[in-house]
Amino acid sequence: MYQIIRYSSIDSTNTRLKQQAMEGAPSGTVLVADRQTAGRGRLGRQFFSPEGSGLYMSLLIRPVRLCDAGLLTTLAAVAVARALEGFGVPTGIKWVNDLMVDGRKLCGILAEAGIYEGQPFAVIGIGINLKKAAFPGELTHIAISMEEVLGTSPSRDEVMHAVLDQLARVDLSGPKDPAALMEEYRRRSVTLGRAVRVIPHSGESYEAVAVAIREDGSLDVRVGAELRNVSSGEVSIKI
Ligand code: BTN
Repeated sequence: MYQIIRYSSIDSTNTRLKQQAMEGAPSGTVLVADRQTAGRGRLGRQFFSPEGSGLYMSLLIRPVRLCDAGLLTTLAAVAVARALEGFGVPTGIKWVNDLMVDGRKLCGILAEAGIYEGQPFAVIGIGINLKKAAFPGELTHIAISMEEVLGTSPSRDEVMHAVLDQLARVDLSGPKDPAALMEEYRRRSVTLGRAVRVIPHSGESYEAVAVAIREDGSLDVRVGAELRNVSSGEVSIKI
């Protein structure tokens, strides 16, 4: 059910898979690379992807019923959290797409949606830190790897197959029970109930308390007596 294509070096598995999707690649195509030279994160950020230290993979799903990339990211986060738990790595989900261990980021997810010949498709990109890398300065204290958590790292292929198995169970093309998945997302959330700083796409950042995650994956925050809904941008958790 999966066609796995391996690259030693690629600009970005998401960028390349989106191109392949627009050329008619089948659902279940997976690109995995030893390194990415232009790995991408949410909000136009770079995703540091050095050789030999991470799993950098993207999966094409078509057609998809949910063509909301935000919600796909949310549901994919549950699948990846389950896969990591299977290796004995308990992660919490920081809204919206970061899997965390002890306040440090182990995995990021970038879901992107598109349309080809009238049919919506989704590219789910997943980056997991397997081994401690020489992260650039500012990442040293905010990133963590499976090796650091477990003392040793499972192989890249083991982790990739575990993630693909869990993604198949969740069935992002049309999940049977999205409400149950959202409930699990909330249970795994390390953002809910916390004091946060909301960093919107545009405008000033502000302090708030994260109070709820809606069925569409957006976050409700309380600012004084006022409730605000956050559907893009990001939050950082205040210590
Ligand atoms: C984030 O942290 O904001 C999301 C990071 C997603 C990184 C993965 S690595 C594989 C795939 N290819 C990319 O360019 N990005 C995703």
